[in-house]
Amino acid sequence: GATPRVRQLTAGLIRHLHDFARENELTVDEWMAGVELLNEAGRMSDSKRNEGQLVCDVLGLESLVDEITYKLASTAASEPTATAILGPFYRHDAPQLPMGASIVSGLDNTEGDCTWMHGTVTDFRTGAPIAGAVVDVWHTAPNGLYEQQDPDQPEMNLRGRFTTGADGKYAFYCLRPVPYPIPFDGPAGRILKALDRHPFRPAHIHFLLTAPGYKPIVTQIFDRKSKYIEDDAVFAVKDSLVVDFVPFEGDAKAEFELPYDFKMASF
Ligand code: DHB
Ligand code: FE
Repeated sequence: GATPRVRQLTAGLIRHLHDFARENELTVDEWMAGVELLNEAGRMSDSKRNEGQLVCDVLGLESLVDEITYKLASTAASEPTATAILGPFYRHDAPQLPMGASIVSGLDNTEGDCTWMHGTVTDFRTGAPIAGAVVDVWHTAPNGLYEQQDPDQPEMNLRGRFTTGADGKYAFYCLRPVPYPIPFDGPAGRILKALDRHPFRPAHIHFLLTAPGYKPIVTQIFDRKSKYIEDDAVFAVKDSLVVDFVPFEGDAKAEFELPYDFKMASF
């Protein structure tokens, strides 16, 4: 049988759906259009396209659920790194790479601004470095596509996992990301259009941090200079996740440096 929680969620959903229909005097034709939107999202979805999640995201639901789930009770001066939505393009099996490696493969090296990203993963309470933390990173290519959306990119391009040693430090080469539109050729795009909204996200890099004994952190960082930083189509930007790419002199392989420390909370 259903758990009390499933019962509560189901009853709540019905109550709000009925209120929605009554408040708007929803007609049969309008309801059927909604059903078709759901069906179309289902038909479009496969391992490379998660239209259901996109629909939720343009409605702000994933960002709201992120906020509710990871809201901090503490008022401490120091807080763990803020969370942000996972989005529909995570892949759980990104390559494990040696510290300091590049996640860029198969792109002409004139494409994109190479960036040296580095920092330390620490315990937010003690400040101690965390050993064995896995920094799982992914972002789009300069054409605005994730590798699974783009037959011209090698498998797993711009994805990697890096494991910290005793000093808690991580480092890798990536590209300075660009703003890009979420896929808008389906139901999520139609919702945006109906609301006169654009489909763009500000330039961002995704992370999933895990470490033994610590709560995982799903997050993104955002380029302060990027267009759409104030106007993300999926409402994921938080002030503490906005970062500065710094022109980098010391390294022929990178035009920019991006220092960023992650702070985790133990269980
Ligand atoms: C969404 C999130 C992303 O990070 C992205 O690159 C595309 C879409 C989303 O929330 O739907
Ligand atoms: Fe993304």
